Parts: sequence; C-alpha cells; structure tokens
Amino acid sequence: MMDKDFISGLPKAELHLHIEGSLEPELLFKLAERNQVSLPYANVEAVRAAYDFSNLQSFLDIYYAGASVLQTEQDFYDLTWAYLERAHQDNIRHTEIFFDPQTHTDRGIAFEVVIRGIHQALADAEQQLGLTSRLILCFLRHLSEEAAFATLQAALPFRSWIVGIGLDSSEVGNPPEKFKRVFAKAETKGFRKVAHAGEEGSADYIWGALDGLGVERIDHGVQCVQDPELVQLLAARQIPLTVCPLSNTKLCVFDRMEDHNLKQLLDAGLRVMINSDDPAYFGGYLNANFHAVWQALKLSREELLQLAKNSFLSSFLSEPAKLKHLHEIEQYARQV
Ligand code: ADE
Ligand code: ZN
Repeated sequence: MMDKDFISGLPKAELHLHIEGSLEPELLFKLAERNQVSLPYANVEAVRAAYDFSNLQSFLDIYYAGASVLQTEQDFYDLTWAYLERAHQDNIRHTEIFFDPQTHTDRGIAFEVVIRGIHQALADAEQQLGLTSRLILCFLRHLSEEAAFATLQAALPFRSWIVGIGLDSSEVGNPPEKFKRVFAKAETKGFRKVAHAGEEGSADYIWGALDGLGVERIDHGVQCVQDPELVQLLAARQIPLTVCPLSNTKLCVFDRMEDHNLKQLLDAGLRVMINSDDPAYFGGYLNANFHAVWQALKLSREELLQLAKNSFLSSFLSEPAKLKHLHEIEQYARQV
C-alpha cells in the first residue's frame, strides 16, 4: 500500500476546526442567494483567488466577511453537515468543532439560531455516519472581556451541548490574560478549556494560556520552540498542541512546508497532532494536511500512527472511547 493510501485509511480525530472556516465558496454563493446577501466576488474562482493571505489578520478579515451569509438555523445546519460529510470521507471518526458565536450575535443573529443548527447536524452525523463530536465555544480575543462574559452567559442555557471554551482571532496584542476572569468563571460551570496560543504570538502567549487561563490544550503552539524551558514542560506534562500545517503555510507562519517544525516537535516528545483549522480557506481537509507534511517532512509510518494516536489521546472523549479508537489504529497498522 502507498503511504498516501495508508494516510487516507487511518482512523483519525480532528481537534482544531473552525466551523465557519469550512464554508466552501460554492456554499457561500448558495447561501448568499438564499439570504439575498450581495458578495464582493463575481464567481467561485474569484473567491478562491482572493484567498491569498500574508498573515493571520489578512485571513480573518475575509473569514469574518464570509460569515455574513450565515443567517438561519438551516444555514448553520447546512454548513456543519457539509463539513461532517467531508470529514467522514477523510476517515475522521471524532471531531471537536469550534464555533465563534460573537461573529453572528454581533450581526443580530441569535445565539440559539447558531447553536441549534450546528447541534442538529452533529447529532445527525453521529446517528447516520457514526462520527462522534464535541462542540467548543470560542471567544473572539480582539473583542472585550465584557463581550466574552455576555457570550458565556448566552451559552449557559445550552451548557450540555458545549464541552468547552476556547480563544481565537487576532493573537498579537490580545494576550490570554485579558480573559483570565472569563475562563475562571467558565471553569466553575464545568467547561473544559483550550486556547489559541503561539500561532503568530510568542512563547509568552503559551505560558499565559497555561498559567493564566489553565488550559488543557494549546491550539497551534508552534512558537513554543522559542523557549526550551516551555518545550520541556509541554513534553513532561504531555500538553497537546493542535498543529495545523496548511494553515501555517497559508498564513506565512512558515514560508514552506519543508520549514514546518512538526517533526521537530514530535522528536522532542510533544503530544502533537494534525488538524485543518479553516479548510475551505487553506486549501485542504485533514488528509490533505497529512499528505502535505508527510511529503515535505518525510514522515515515517510510525510517525503517522503516532499523530493519529495523539489525536484521540488529546480529545475530550471518555477513556474507554479513547481506548477503542487506539485499538482500531493498532489493528489498522497490523492489517496494512
Ligand atoms: N479563527 C479561525 N481560524 C483562526 C486561526 N488560525 N487563528 C486565530 N483565529 C482563528
Ligand atoms: Zn484556529
């Protein structure tokens, strides 16, 4: 079997996926028409051509503008269902999805509309595709602490549908400590905690997420290599880093995939795994991310297996569910 097929057939979990970032240009146009929103693009090709980013902010500006076509519960359902079908094709068995409620509530869309649509698609995918999931609410870090508190309040009636909270959007200038009190409040409500840190921001942002917010996972985290003491701590505590290779090259965190530090992180014994972040914008879903790093960094089958195992080990699944998936990976490795 070719390594490419080995990757495709490997059972995987995805832990870093923004549902708004899975909005493909075709669905963008369909929803724009359905909701009578005018788009600044002539066609799908023009949209794809606009996805040429120089840094995180240049992406975020386009990503938030794209979200304006999402208005009804059905729109959020269709968006989520499209991702889940695509994830299923990539042999993703479990996915933990971020959503950005403030992107929608700030446009006058009710929190309830957003979460009901997403939740229904997740429930249908578990039933129809056997694909399990969790939902993580992200606060937009360029907005205020007060706005984050209001969002947490709006989420409480849906507490049982949301496993945890995260932190995303413009990193530099918006350190984790800005949200220390919101994260502390969320913890009292039983939410698990993650945060984007060390994507464009320095290693200090990772320290801030760990010490200030008490997160269990770091989203991205690739800048940890700036600080050997931090790398040592991440390894010793096996704190997961949800790495997103195609995102990192599209947003110029690394110039070329050959320069990506994923293998260096693996070699240092860190619990890293591969994710797609915003696949509609960055040119590929999970298997495409695996293929890109495998090719550029010449990863071995052992390393590919380790990445897949790390994805389940780092998830918010129950311990028995994790063991079931790890067992399936081992069976797969023996068969091929
Ligand atoms: N929102 C969506 N994708 C993001 C990323 N890669 N970093 C920060 N915020 C995001
Ligand atoms: Zn992200």
